[in-house]
Amino acid sequence: MNLLIMGLPGAGKGTQAVKIVEKFGLVHISTGDMFRAAIANQTELGLLAKSYMDKGDLVPDEVTNGIVKERLAQEDIKEKGFLLDGYPRTLEQAEVLTAILKELGLKLDAVVNIEIAADKLVERLSGRIINRKTGETFHKVFNPPADYNEEDYYQREDDKPEAVKRRLDVNIAQGQPIIEYYRAEGLVHDIEGDQDIELVFEAIDKVLSNLK
Ligand code: AP5
Ligand code: MG
Repeated sequence: MNLLIMGLPGAGKGTQAVKIVEKFGLVHISTGDMFRAAIANQTELGLLAKSYMDKGDLVPDEVTNGIVKERLAQEDIKEKGFLLDGYPRTLEQAEVLTAILKELGLKLDAVVNIEIAADKLVERLSGRIINRKTGETFHKVFNPPADYNEEDYYQREDDKPEAVKRRLDVNIAQGQPIIEYYRAEGLVHDIEGDQDIELVFEAIDKVLSNLK
């Protein structure tokens, strides 16, 4: 099964992606996570990505398309299937993805679109905390870790208020045409994102289980 998960920043893409790949055995490909890993490793890609991400802007398409193409061409994708999280994010990326999949002989089965009003997202992002050791994402109020200890958790650079505002503006502007692109293909499944994490997953699970 080959899937996309879409939604505004903070909609819950990463949170649900972890559950989906665990249940369905897919490879999780998050462009944001790939850029953050490059930043942590201080690579050239990381330096470039950081200059855009910290401001809440998108990394240029040619860079992002390149890393996705490279990842999708690896052996495990054909065996297991994939879940793309945070890509495509521009119409150009969507068109490039169509070409990449065609070239690799892969086909998209569904687009999971997590819907939630933008005004709910600021508190999701400002309260997000990530475990330094495991990389797991939690929320101070909505999904607190059992043994919360401030030193073991950090907040993302782009979860600071200025970057959050910019990310929401950029993604609201760019996102709708992409959804329409896939809606025309009959691939989009809208999921109510403003409910408990487990209920969002139940709704996604129902859709995906019916696809198989
Ligand atoms: P990326 O890492 O993809 O960030 P994003 O799209 O802004 O989305 P987030 O990861 O912030 O949110 P999420 O939907 O995953 O929410 P989460 O599950 O964590 O991209 C970051 C940057 O990288 C971009 O700005 C750009 O610069 C660059 N980039 C990445 N991809 C790119 C591309 N394709 N092209 C160009 N540039 C690219 O949840 C958020 C919080 O809410 C958590 O605390 C969570 O615990 C909580 N939560 C989740 N679900 C619920 C719920 N149901 N109820 C209550 N709380 C919940
Ligand atoms: Mg994410």
